[in-house]
Amino acid sequence: MDLAIPIADNTYWIGVNDRHTDLFEGLWPLPRGVSYNSYFIKDEKTTVIDTVKNSRTNNYVDKIRSLIGREGKVDYLVINHMEPDHSGAIRVLRNIYPDMQIIANVKTLDFLKHFYEITENVRIVADGDEIDLGGRKLKFTLTPMVHWPETMMTYDTKTGVLFTGDAFGGFGSLNGGIFDDEVDVEYFEGEILRYFSNIVAKYSVMVQKAIKKVGGLDIKIIASTHGPVWRSNPQFIIDKYLKWSRQEAEEGVVIVFGSMYGNTERMMEATAKGLTGEDVSKIRIHDISRGHVSYIIRDIWKYKALVLGACTYNMKLFPPMEYLVNFLENDKLKNRVLGIIGTYGWSGGGVKRLKEFAEKVKWDLVEPVVEARCAPTEEDLDKCVKLGGNIVEALNKCNTCLSI
Ligand code: FEO
Repeated sequence: MDLAIPIADNTYWIGVNDRHTDLFEGLWPLPRGVSYNSYFIKDEKTTVIDTVKNSRTNNYVDKIRSLIGREGKVDYLVINHMEPDHSGAIRVLRNIYPDMQIIANVKTLDFLKHFYEITENVRIVADGDEIDLGGRKLKFTLTPMVHWPETMMTYDTKTGVLFTGDAFGGFGSLNGGIFDDEVDVEYFEGEILRYFSNIVAKYSVMVQKAIKKVGGLDIKIIASTHGPVWRSNPQFIIDKYLKWSRQEAEEGVVIVFGSMYGNTERMMEATAKGLTGEDVSKIRIHDISRGHVSYIIRDIWKYKALVLGACTYNMKLFPPMEYLVNFLENDKLKNRVLGIIGTYGWSGGGVKRLKEFAEKVKWDLVEPVVEARCAPTEEDLDKCVKLGGNIVEALNKCNTCLSI
Protein backbone atom coordinates (compact mmCIF):
# COMPACT_ATOMS: atom_id res chain seq x y z
CA MET A 1 0.00 0.00 0.00
CA ASP A 2 1.95 2.92 -1.33
CA LEU A 3 -0.64 5.60 -0.83
CA ALA A 4 -1.97 7.42 2.17
CA ILE A 5 -5.42 6.04 2.97
CA PRO A 6 -8.20 8.32 4.25
CA ILE A 7 -9.73 7.14 7.53
CA ALA A 8 -11.79 10.23 8.44
CA ASP A 9 -12.18 13.89 7.42
CA ASN A 10 -8.70 15.00 6.25
CA THR A 11 -7.20 12.23 8.35
CA TYR A 12 -5.03 9.57 6.74
CA TRP A 13 -3.34 6.28 7.57
CA ILE A 14 0.30 6.61 6.50
CA GLY A 15 1.57 3.43 8.10
CA VAL A 16 3.83 0.76 6.65
CA ASN A 17 3.88 -3.01 6.68
CA ASP A 18 6.94 -4.90 7.84
CA ARG A 19 7.22 -8.41 6.43
CA HIS A 20 11.00 -8.61 6.94
CA THR A 21 11.33 -8.61 10.71
CA ASP A 22 11.12 -12.18 12.08
CA LEU A 23 10.94 -11.32 15.76
CA PHE A 24 9.16 -8.32 17.24
CA GLU A 25 11.26 -6.87 20.09
CA GLY A 26 13.70 -9.68 19.26
CA LEU A 27 11.28 -12.02 21.05
CA TRP A 28 7.90 -12.51 19.43
CA PRO A 29 7.50 -14.32 16.09
CA LEU A 30 5.86 -12.43 13.25
CA PRO A 31 4.68 -15.18 10.89
CA ARG A 32 2.53 -12.70 8.99
CA GLY A 33 4.50 -9.53 9.64
CA VAL A 34 3.33 -6.46 11.51
CA SER A 35 2.12 -2.99 10.59
CA TYR A 36 3.44 0.23 12.09
CA ASN A 37 0.51 2.60 11.87
CA SER A 38 1.19 6.30 11.62
CA TYR A 39 -1.46 8.93 10.87
CA PHE A 40 -1.60 12.35 9.23
CA ILE A 41 -4.09 15.16 9.85
CA LYS A 42 -4.35 17.83 7.19
CA ASP A 43 -5.89 20.89 8.81
CA GLU A 44 -4.70 24.52 9.06
CA LYS A 45 -1.87 22.87 10.95
CA THR A 46 -0.52 19.61 9.56
CA THR A 47 0.13 16.88 12.08
CA VAL A 48 1.76 13.47 12.10
CA ILE A 49 0.71 11.12 14.86
CA ASP A 50 3.40 8.59 15.78
CA THR A 51 5.94 7.44 13.19
CA VAL A 52 7.27 4.03 12.07
CA LYS A 53 10.28 1.79 12.59
CA ASN A 54 13.49 3.28 11.17
CA SER A 55 13.97 0.46 8.66
CA ARG A 56 10.75 1.45 6.84
CA THR A 57 11.17 5.22 6.36
CA ASN A 58 11.52 5.67 2.58
CA ASN A 59 8.05 4.61 1.66
CA TYR A 60 6.77 6.42 4.75
CA VAL A 61 8.11 9.84 3.76
CA ASP A 62 6.68 9.36 0.25
CA LYS A 63 3.24 9.00 1.79
CA ILE A 64 3.56 12.30 3.64
CA ARG A 65 4.76 13.99 0.45
CA SER A 66 1.79 12.56 -1.44
CA LEU A 67 -0.41 14.60 0.91
CA ILE A 68 1.48 17.91 1.15
CA GLY A 69 3.86 17.85 -1.80
CA ARG A 70 7.64 18.08 -1.67
CA GLU A 71 7.55 21.68 -0.45
CA GLY A 72 4.81 21.22 2.13
CA LYS A 73 5.58 21.38 5.83
CA VAL A 74 4.63 19.40 8.87
CA ASP A 75 3.72 21.59 11.83
CA TYR A 76 3.38 19.02 14.58
CA LEU A 77 4.47 15.52 15.42
CA VAL A 78 2.41 14.02 18.24
CA ILE A 79 4.19 11.20 20.02
CA ASN A 80 1.86 8.83 21.82
CA HIS A 81 4.52 6.19 22.39
CA MET A 82 8.31 6.18 22.21
CA GLU A 83 9.10 2.50 21.60
CA PRO A 84 11.32 2.52 18.50
CA ASP A 85 8.79 0.66 16.34
CA HIS A 86 6.92 3.99 16.42
CA SER A 87 9.59 6.57 17.15
CA GLY A 88 12.14 5.25 14.65
CA ALA A 89 11.45 7.89 12.00
CA ILE A 90 11.52 10.94 14.28
CA ARG A 91 15.03 11.99 13.28
CA VAL A 92 14.23 11.51 9.59
CA LEU A 93 11.17 13.75 9.92
CA ARG A 94 13.12 16.31 11.94
CA ASN A 95 15.73 16.46 9.17
CA ILE A 96 13.14 16.97 6.45
CA TYR A 97 10.87 19.25 8.52
CA PRO A 98 13.26 21.13 10.85
CA ASP A 99 10.52 23.47 12.15
CA MET A 100 8.21 20.63 13.08
CA GLN A 101 7.26 20.90 16.75
CA ILE A 102 7.11 17.70 18.73
CA ILE A 103 4.10 17.34 21.02
CA ALA A 104 4.94 15.14 23.95
CA ASN A 105 4.47 14.70 27.67
CA VAL A 106 7.23 15.15 30.20
CA LYS A 107 8.08 11.43 30.30
CA THR A 108 8.32 11.32 26.52
CA LEU A 109 10.87 14.11 26.63
CA ASP A 110 13.15 11.93 28.71
CA PHE A 111 13.02 9.14 26.13
CA LEU A 112 13.49 11.63 23.26
CA LYS A 113 16.69 12.82 24.86
CA HIS A 114 18.12 9.37 25.54
CA PHE A 115 17.08 7.63 22.32
CA TYR A 116 17.61 10.47 19.85
CA GLU A 117 19.30 13.37 21.68
CA ILE A 118 16.30 15.57 20.91
CA THR A 119 15.52 18.29 23.43
CA GLU A 120 14.66 21.31 21.26
CA ASN A 121 11.31 22.47 19.91
CA VAL A 122 9.32 20.06 22.06
CA ARG A 123 5.99 21.24 23.47
CA ILE A 124 5.10 19.50 26.68
CA VAL A 125 1.44 18.64 27.23
CA ALA A 126 -0.24 17.42 30.39
CA ASP A 127 -3.22 15.17 30.95
CA GLY A 128 -6.32 16.72 29.36
CA ASP A 129 -4.44 19.42 27.44
CA GLU A 130 -5.53 20.31 23.92
CA ILE A 131 -3.88 21.85 20.90
CA ASP A 132 -5.80 23.66 18.18
CA LEU A 133 -5.14 22.63 14.57
CA GLY A 134 -7.56 25.22 13.14
CA GLY A 135 -10.60 23.16 12.26
CA ARG A 136 -10.27 20.75 15.18
CA LYS A 137 -8.56 20.21 18.47
CA LEU A 138 -6.44 17.33 19.66
CA LYS A 139 -6.97 16.33 23.27
CA PHE A 140 -4.36 14.29 25.12
CA THR A 141 -4.99 11.66 27.76
CA LEU A 142 -2.02 10.25 29.63
CA THR A 143 -2.22 6.45 29.79
CA PRO A 144 1.03 5.40 31.50
CA MET A 145 2.23 1.79 31.16
CA VAL A 146 0.03 1.01 28.18
CA HIS A 147 2.74 0.05 27.27
CA TRP A 148 5.58 2.31 28.57
CA PRO A 149 5.56 5.06 31.22
CA GLU A 150 5.15 7.84 28.63
CA THR A 151 2.24 6.36 26.66
CA MET A 152 -0.70 8.61 25.97
CA MET A 153 -3.72 8.69 23.68
CA THR A 154 -4.80 11.50 21.37
CA TYR A 155 -8.42 12.30 20.56
CA ASP A 156 -9.57 14.32 17.56
CA THR A 157 -12.55 16.40 18.68
CA LYS A 158 -13.87 16.81 15.14
CA THR A 159 -13.77 13.27 13.79
CA GLY A 160 -13.95 11.23 16.98
CA VAL A 161 -10.80 9.32 16.07
CA LEU A 162 -8.92 8.09 19.12
CA PHE A 163 -5.24 7.45 18.37
CA THR A 164 -4.39 4.86 20.98
CA GLY A 165 -0.73 3.87 20.60
CA ASP A 166 -0.21 0.16 21.23
CA ALA A 167 -3.58 -0.30 22.90
CA PHE A 168 -6.01 -2.36 20.80
CA GLY A 169 -3.25 -3.27 18.35
CA GLY A 170 -1.62 -6.56 17.45
CA PHE A 171 0.64 -8.50 15.13
CA GLY A 172 -0.06 -9.13 11.46
CA SER A 173 0.57 -6.90 8.48
CA LEU A 174 -2.36 -5.21 6.77
CA ASN A 175 -2.75 -7.06 3.52
CA GLY A 176 -4.77 -4.77 1.30
CA GLY A 177 -7.47 -3.58 3.68
CA ILE A 178 -6.70 -1.55 6.77
CA PHE A 179 -10.16 -1.38 8.36
CA ASP A 180 -11.90 -3.87 10.61
CA ASP A 181 -14.56 -4.39 7.95
CA GLU A 182 -11.88 -5.23 5.37
CA VAL A 183 -9.73 -7.74 7.25
CA ASP A 184 -10.02 -11.16 8.84
CA VAL A 185 -11.12 -9.98 12.30
CA GLU A 186 -10.87 -13.47 13.81
CA TYR A 187 -7.19 -13.67 12.82
CA PHE A 188 -6.44 -10.21 14.16
CA GLU A 189 -8.31 -10.89 17.40
CA GLY A 190 -5.96 -13.82 18.02
CA GLU A 191 -2.90 -11.74 17.21
CA ILE A 192 -4.12 -8.76 19.27
CA LEU A 193 -4.54 -11.12 22.22
CA ARG A 194 -1.03 -12.51 21.60
CA TYR A 195 0.31 -8.93 21.62
CA PHE A 196 -1.72 -8.04 24.70
CA SER A 197 -0.96 -11.18 26.74
CA ASN A 198 2.77 -11.17 26.04
CA ILE A 199 3.58 -7.47 25.96
CA VAL A 200 0.95 -5.34 27.68
CA ALA A 201 -0.93 -7.66 30.04
CA LYS A 202 1.27 -7.29 33.08
CA TYR A 203 0.00 -3.71 33.16
CA SER A 204 -3.66 -4.75 33.07
CA VAL A 205 -4.58 -2.46 35.93
CA MET A 206 -3.20 0.48 33.97
CA VAL A 207 -5.12 -0.68 30.89
CA GLN A 208 -8.31 -0.61 32.94
CA LYS A 209 -7.53 2.90 34.15
CA ALA A 210 -6.78 4.04 30.60
CA ILE A 211 -10.05 2.70 29.21
CA LYS A 212 -11.93 4.38 32.03
CA LYS A 213 -10.19 7.69 31.34
CA VAL A 214 -11.19 7.75 27.67
CA GLY A 215 -14.61 6.27 28.44
CA GLY A 216 -16.33 9.67 28.32
CA LEU A 217 -15.18 10.44 24.78
CA ASP A 218 -17.43 9.91 21.78
CA ILE A 219 -15.11 7.43 20.07
CA LYS A 220 -16.02 6.86 16.45
CA ILE A 221 -12.77 5.25 15.28
CA ILE A 222 -9.98 3.45 17.14
CA ALA A 223 -6.68 4.04 15.38
CA SER A 224 -3.98 1.94 17.01
CA THR A 225 -0.30 1.82 16.09
CA HIS A 226 -0.61 -1.84 15.03
CA GLY A 227 -3.25 -3.83 13.18
CA PRO A 228 -6.57 -2.73 11.77
CA VAL A 229 -8.28 0.65 12.14
CA TRP A 230 -11.57 -0.01 13.92
CA ARG A 231 -14.14 2.13 12.14
CA SER A 232 -17.16 -0.19 11.84
CA ASN A 233 -17.21 -1.57 15.34
CA PRO A 234 -14.67 0.08 17.65
CA GLN A 235 -16.62 -1.20 20.65
CA PHE A 236 -15.73 -4.77 19.65
CA ILE A 237 -12.05 -4.30 20.38
CA ILE A 238 -12.70 -2.08 23.43
CA ASP A 239 -14.83 -4.87 24.91
CA LYS A 240 -12.13 -7.47 24.19
CA TYR A 241 -9.52 -5.30 25.90
CA LEU A 242 -11.83 -4.79 28.87
CA LYS A 243 -12.36 -8.53 29.18
CA TRP A 244 -8.69 -9.42 28.83
CA SER A 245 -7.50 -6.75 31.22
CA ARG A 246 -10.07 -7.89 33.79
CA GLN A 247 -8.48 -11.32 33.37
CA GLU A 248 -11.82 -12.90 32.54
CA ALA A 249 -11.39 -16.31 30.98
CA GLU A 250 -13.36 -18.60 28.73
CA GLU A 251 -14.23 -22.18 29.63
CA GLY A 252 -11.46 -24.37 28.33
CA VAL A 253 -8.26 -26.09 29.35
CA VAL A 254 -4.69 -25.50 28.23
CA ILE A 255 -2.28 -28.38 28.73
CA VAL A 256 1.41 -27.60 28.46
CA PHE A 257 3.83 -30.49 28.70
CA GLY A 258 7.58 -30.98 28.49
CA SER A 259 8.70 -34.53 27.89
CA MET A 260 12.12 -35.99 27.02
CA TYR A 261 11.19 -39.62 26.41
CA GLY A 262 7.42 -39.58 26.15
CA ASN A 263 6.57 -40.51 29.73
CA THR A 264 5.26 -37.11 30.82
CA GLU A 265 3.50 -36.97 27.46
CA ARG A 266 1.63 -40.21 28.31
CA MET A 267 0.47 -38.60 31.55
CA MET A 268 -0.66 -35.55 29.60
CA GLU A 269 -2.70 -37.78 27.25
CA ALA A 270 -4.35 -39.49 30.24
CA THR A 271 -5.23 -36.10 31.75
CA ALA A 272 -6.69 -34.94 28.43
CA LYS A 273 -8.74 -38.15 28.34
CA GLY A 274 -10.10 -37.28 31.76
CA LEU A 275 -11.19 -33.91 30.37
CA THR A 276 -12.84 -35.19 27.20
CA GLY A 277 -14.64 -37.85 29.26
CA GLU A 278 -16.38 -34.89 30.89
CA ASP A 279 -17.35 -33.21 27.62
CA VAL A 280 -14.74 -30.47 27.60
CA SER A 281 -14.01 -29.73 23.98
CA LYS A 282 -11.95 -26.57 24.26
CA ILE A 283 -8.62 -28.22 24.99
CA ARG A 284 -5.41 -26.65 23.76
CA ILE A 285 -2.34 -28.88 24.06
CA HIS A 286 1.14 -27.41 23.67
CA ASP A 287 4.51 -29.17 23.67
CA ILE A 288 6.73 -26.68 25.51
CA SER A 289 9.74 -27.79 23.44
CA ARG A 290 8.05 -27.00 20.14
CA GLY A 291 6.35 -23.89 18.87
CA HIS A 292 6.78 -20.49 20.45
CA VAL A 293 5.87 -19.73 24.04
CA SER A 294 3.95 -16.58 23.01
CA TYR A 295 1.16 -18.76 21.60
CA ILE A 296 1.04 -20.74 24.86
CA ILE A 297 0.83 -17.55 26.92
CA ARG A 298 -1.97 -16.31 24.67
CA ASP A 299 -3.99 -19.48 25.31
CA ILE A 300 -3.30 -19.39 29.05
CA TRP A 301 -4.64 -15.84 29.12
CA LYS A 302 -7.72 -16.92 27.18
CA TYR A 303 -8.81 -20.09 29.00
CA LYS A 304 -9.69 -20.74 32.62
CA ALA A 305 -7.78 -23.92 33.40
CA LEU A 306 -4.16 -24.90 32.92
CA VAL A 307 -2.37 -28.22 33.36
CA LEU A 308 1.39 -28.08 33.56
CA GLY A 309 3.26 -31.33 33.02
CA ALA A 310 7.02 -31.59 33.06
CA CYS A 311 9.87 -33.91 33.63
CA THR A 312 12.76 -33.17 35.94
CA TYR A 313 16.02 -32.16 34.29
CA ASN A 314 19.27 -32.10 36.28
CA MET A 315 17.28 -32.08 39.51
CA LYS A 316 15.31 -29.04 38.40
CA LEU A 317 12.27 -28.25 36.30
CA PHE A 318 12.58 -28.96 32.56
CA PRO A 319 14.24 -25.69 31.34
CA PRO A 320 11.66 -24.50 28.79
CA MET A 321 8.93 -25.04 31.40
CA GLU A 322 10.96 -23.00 33.87
CA TYR A 323 10.94 -20.15 31.35
CA LEU A 324 7.15 -20.35 31.10
CA VAL A 325 6.42 -20.46 34.84
CA ASN A 326 8.88 -17.66 35.43
CA PHE A 327 7.08 -15.55 32.82
CA LEU A 328 3.69 -16.35 34.40
CA GLU A 329 4.94 -15.46 37.87
CA ASN A 330 5.83 -12.02 36.57
CA ASP A 331 2.66 -11.67 34.52
CA LYS A 332 0.33 -11.17 37.51
CA LEU A 333 -2.36 -13.34 35.93
CA LYS A 334 -4.93 -14.34 38.56
CA ASN A 335 -7.94 -16.58 38.97
CA ARG A 336 -6.97 -19.69 37.08
CA VAL A 337 -7.48 -23.37 37.84
CA LEU A 338 -4.27 -25.40 37.85
CA GLY A 339 -3.34 -29.08 37.56
CA ILE A 340 0.19 -30.44 37.94
CA ILE A 341 1.71 -33.67 36.61
CA GLY A 342 5.32 -34.70 36.08
CA THR A 343 8.10 -37.25 36.24
CA TYR A 344 11.52 -37.66 37.79
CA GLY A 345 14.35 -40.19 37.56
CA TRP A 346 16.11 -40.14 40.92
CA SER A 347 15.95 -36.83 42.79
CA GLY A 348 12.73 -35.08 41.86
CA GLY A 349 12.66 -31.34 41.33
CA GLY A 350 10.24 -30.67 38.46
CA VAL A 351 6.95 -31.15 40.28
CA LYS A 352 8.41 -29.51 43.39
CA ARG A 353 9.06 -26.35 41.37
CA LEU A 354 5.59 -26.45 39.82
CA LYS A 355 4.06 -26.65 43.30
CA GLU A 356 6.13 -23.65 44.36
CA PHE A 357 4.79 -21.86 41.29
CA ALA A 358 1.21 -22.74 42.34
CA GLU A 359 1.80 -21.26 45.78
CA LYS A 360 3.32 -18.13 44.35
CA VAL A 361 0.55 -17.32 41.85
CA LYS A 362 -2.21 -18.46 44.27
CA TRP A 363 -4.26 -20.21 41.60
CA ASP A 364 -6.71 -22.97 42.58
CA LEU A 365 -4.61 -26.13 42.61
CA VAL A 366 -6.70 -29.17 41.72
CA GLU A 367 -5.81 -32.54 43.27
CA PRO A 368 -4.30 -34.95 42.72
CA VAL A 369 -0.85 -33.69 41.85
CA VAL A 370 0.59 -36.67 39.99
CA GLU A 371 4.30 -37.38 40.03
CA ALA A 372 5.67 -40.57 38.47
CA ARG A 373 9.13 -42.05 38.84
CA CYS A 374 10.70 -42.63 35.39
CA ALA A 375 7.58 -43.93 33.68
CA PRO A 376 3.96 -43.72 34.83
CA THR A 377 2.34 -46.84 36.24
CA GLU A 378 -1.28 -47.73 35.50
CA GLU A 379 -2.10 -46.23 38.86
CA ASP A 380 -0.37 -42.97 37.91
CA LEU A 381 -2.30 -42.81 34.65
CA ASP A 382 -5.58 -43.44 36.46
CA LYS A 383 -4.74 -40.53 38.74
CA CYS A 384 -4.17 -38.34 35.68
CA VAL A 385 -7.60 -39.28 34.32
CA LYS A 386 -9.01 -38.43 37.74
CA LEU A 387 -7.21 -35.07 37.67
CA GLY A 388 -8.87 -34.31 34.31
CA GLY A 389 -12.29 -35.03 35.81
CA ASN A 390 -11.56 -32.92 38.88
CA ILE A 391 -10.52 -29.99 36.69
CA VAL A 392 -13.85 -30.14 34.91
CA GLU A 393 -15.57 -30.17 38.29
CA ALA A 394 -13.59 -27.09 39.31
CA LEU A 395 -14.53 -25.38 36.05
CA ASN A 396 -18.19 -26.17 36.60
CA LYS A 397 -18.04 -24.54 40.00
CA CYS A 398 -16.34 -21.48 38.58
CA ASN A 399 -18.64 -18.52 38.31
CA THR A 400 -16.08 -16.07 36.99
CA CYS A 401 -15.39 -17.73 33.65
CA LEU A 402 -17.44 -16.99 30.58
CA SER A 403 -19.39 -19.55 28.62
CA ILE A 404 -18.63 -19.42 24.92
FE1 FEO B 1 4.31 -1.05 19.30
FE2 FEO B 1 5.20 -0.63 22.62
O1 FEO B 1 5.38 -0.54 20.76
